[in-house]
Amino acid sequence: MNKIAEIFTSLDYGPAPESADVALAWLAAHDNTFGHFINGAWTKPGKTFASENPANGKVLAQVTDGTAADVDAAVKAARAAFPKWSALSGYQRGKYLYAIARLIQKHSRLFAVLETMDNGKPIRESRDVDIPLVARHFYHHAGWAQHLEREFPDHVPYGVCGQIIPWNFPLLMLAWKIAPALAAGNTVVLKPAEFTSLTALLFAEICDKAHLPKGVVNIVTGEGDTGAAITGHPDIDKIAFTGSTEVGKIIRRATAGTGKGISLELGGKSPYIVFDDADIDSAIEGLVDAIWFNQGQVCCAGSRLLVQESIEERFLEKLKKRMSTLRVGDPLDKAVDIGALVAPVQVERVRDLVKKGVAEGGQLYEPDIDVPGGGCFLKPTLITNVSTANTVANEEIFGPVLVEMSFRTPEEAVALANNTRYGLAATIWTENVNLALDIAPKLKAGVVWINSTNNFDAAVGFGGYKESGFGREGGREGMAFYLKAKWEKELKPFVAAAAKSGKSANPLDDAGGIDQTAKMYIAGKQARPDSGYSRPVHGPSGALVGEVGDGNRKDIRNAVEAARAALGWATTSAHNRAQILYFLAENLEYRADEFAARLRAQTGEDGAAEVAASVERLFAFAGWADKYDGAVHNPPQRMVATAMVEALGAMAILAPPSRPLLGSIALIAPALAMGNTVVLVPSERSPLSMTDFYQVLETSDVPSGVLNIVTGESKVLAKTLAEHDGIDAIWFAGDAETSAMVEKASAGNVKQTWTSRGLYYDLSDKAKFEGDYFLRRATQVKNVWIPYGA
Ligand code: NAI
Ligand code: MG
Repeated sequence: MNKIAEIFTSLDYGPAPESADVALAWLAAHDNTFGHFINGAWTKPGKTFASENPANGKVLAQVTDGTAADVDAAVKAARAAFPKWSALSGYQRGKYLYAIARLIQKHSRLFAVLETMDNGKPIRESRDVDIPLVARHFYHHAGWAQHLEREFPDHVPYGVCGQIIPWNFPLLMLAWKIAPALAAGNTVVLKPAEFTSLTALLFAEICDKAHLPKGVVNIVTGEGDTGAAITGHPDIDKIAFTGSTEVGKIIRRATAGTGKGISLELGGKSPYIVFDDADIDSAIEGLVDAIWFNQGQVCCAGSRLLVQESIEERFLEKLKKRMSTLRVGDPLDKAVDIGALVAPVQVERVRDLVKKGVAEGGQLYEPDIDVPGGGCFLKPTLITNVSTANTVANEEIFGPVLVEMSFRTPEEAVALANNTRYGLAATIWTENVNLALDIAPKLKAGVVWINSTNNFDAAVGFGGYKESGFGREGGREGMAFYLKAKWEKELKPFVAAAAKSGKSANPLDDAGGIDQTAKMYIAGKQARPDSGYSRPVHGPSGALVGEVGDGNRKDIRNAVEAARAALGWATTSAHNRAQILYFLAENLEYRADEFAARLRAQTGEDGAAEVAASVERLFAFAGWADKYDGAVHNPPQRMVATAMVEALGAMAILAPPSRPLLGSIALIAPALAMGNTVVLVPSERSPLSMTDFYQVLETSDVPSGVLNIVTGESKVLAKTLAEHDGIDAIWFAGDAETSAMVEKASAGNVKQTWTSRGLYYDLSDKAKFEGDYFLRRATQVKNVWIPYGA
């Protein structure tokens, strides 16, 4: 056969390599050795390590391993640049972002080739996905800079942001971090991942070309300890991290108590759900993208395939066939589907996990296709026959490995999908719009794709539920995480009213006249404390005014269980929740005199004003329940992304010592309005107003378990709650030391936190606290991508 006839029979691809010359020339122009980019200039290279091309093991360049002193120099430069940069008008800042976007487009091929060489991803992806999205992010955020004051009134930038990014989308993650930070008026110190520093260094040159003021963007290269020097630096105001959940938890602990802002975008084990009425061929193509895009090294990879049993056999057959047509090879080849993993250590990690999965009963399938030797290449891999307990069904593999399970009913699909500590993304395939839109709200994930997958856009928030982290990147949602309420930067320390003396050391001495200990309130019932102990409550002159139970770990456990059993509160209609809160307010108002007297007894102040403010606050959030809602984003894809505002789940709220009634109401009202269930620890010093509140609850149709109240020592109960895996978020109002402890302990399951850190938050201030401040902290946004106008 002649050559052409041969090609027609085999229909094989010939090589279509993209040239590496320009990228190699750029590296050579830097003598293949880099320092950091600090204060608008290159530093002299220090101790360096190699950045390699994982497709062939060749060293591309030497980059400097940043020291604590390097980080400090970068922070100083960023600090010095902050006043001028943040004082520019949004329009002026926007023009810089626009210039950066233009320059990235101008040099897009260089960026794409360099990215592919350093990371191993196919040029088709870096050229058609990564780099265009990077440019899109800077364009989009140029607009946010300009409209900042109008859209975020009374908000200010944090200051200096420390940003630490992973290696799977080196330049794209940089863009997700730097574009919103600069738009908001922050300056940054960014550390790229050690495997993939080069496009960040090329980006530094772009900043220079765009005449970005010195010190606004600083790039420090290095490994984990360089990252730790950033998270530990005292003059950084906010940390933004993307990477493994493990390191995310380390960073949460490291920043606890420092007052640094923090957003974490962590791992995932995202379900890819295919119902029996799906368009199977499209679902297969989607799956190729979900798990073999970027060799599966994607935090939101659809790595858990859930297929309805009735089509399982047919689906897997088609899938295997499709797998055998995937081309693994030189990432610079334009016709390659799967490139190289980022580094040998990742290849080993993936191999080990696959071995484990098979040893635990999984069945391995790999297509009979060619894989080049000598680089970090792996075949696309499918593991079937896995149980929910199998390691590969639970651990983030971060490689080209798909794990498959089947389900029978939609309920089972949801249960399997949510059976993970992660909650980053999920995909649904069905031709039935009712089914898709019934399942989407039930999935605990920050992003849901319907009949599509791996869609990203600068206008659409991206980020996780549960241990996938908190914070959003992209769009309005993302901007909010680079801004602070102006007043929050000016808070003063809280000075507690001096404790009055006159108490007896002997708990029995004071007890005269008090024959009743107020109980706890758990699952809609009054409950005795497990400990059998009670705590005295003293009035302003030191006289005993009552007793409450001394709550312990067991009481908390029961309360959390009740709060979790009541999570259906989130799915009652917002109108219904509003009605219940209005009714609660009304019933409190009926008893205004009684509550005022109790407040007087505890604090010595005229309680009438506090009761009135509490009633008003309940009204305020009843009013918000059906108004604080989402948005519809309009990305360039033929889709809409509906940003749904959802509850966090079961929240722990520890009220401040002062204002026994309003202090609790101001915090629980927004939480309940948005559909959370709550375990409340009322003021430790003056808990009686909230134990009296049981009676109001009982007459107000609040479903049992929605609000549970445990009295006791705030610090002790805060620790138990912060460590509890059944709690999704914790708010603590009180001293700095306990705030730090709460933040640290919250790392266990990556809870969202709000703490007052010993500062005085005047919760009676309506302008500050009757609106979005706590509503935002009581919710998380889920973006549901829906085909629209296709
Ligand atoms: P990693 O989380 O260690 O690295 C991410 C970034 O954090 C890098 O820039 C690294 O230098 C930095 N870092 C490491 N330790 C640090 C510390 N103590 N303090 C501050 N910064 C620190 O991820 P790694 O080790 O590269 O990958 C291991 C596994 O993590 C992967 O196999 C994958 O499962 C997961 N991963 C998940 C990502 C995601 O986006 N979900 C991204 C990268 C990794
Ligand atoms: Mg590399």
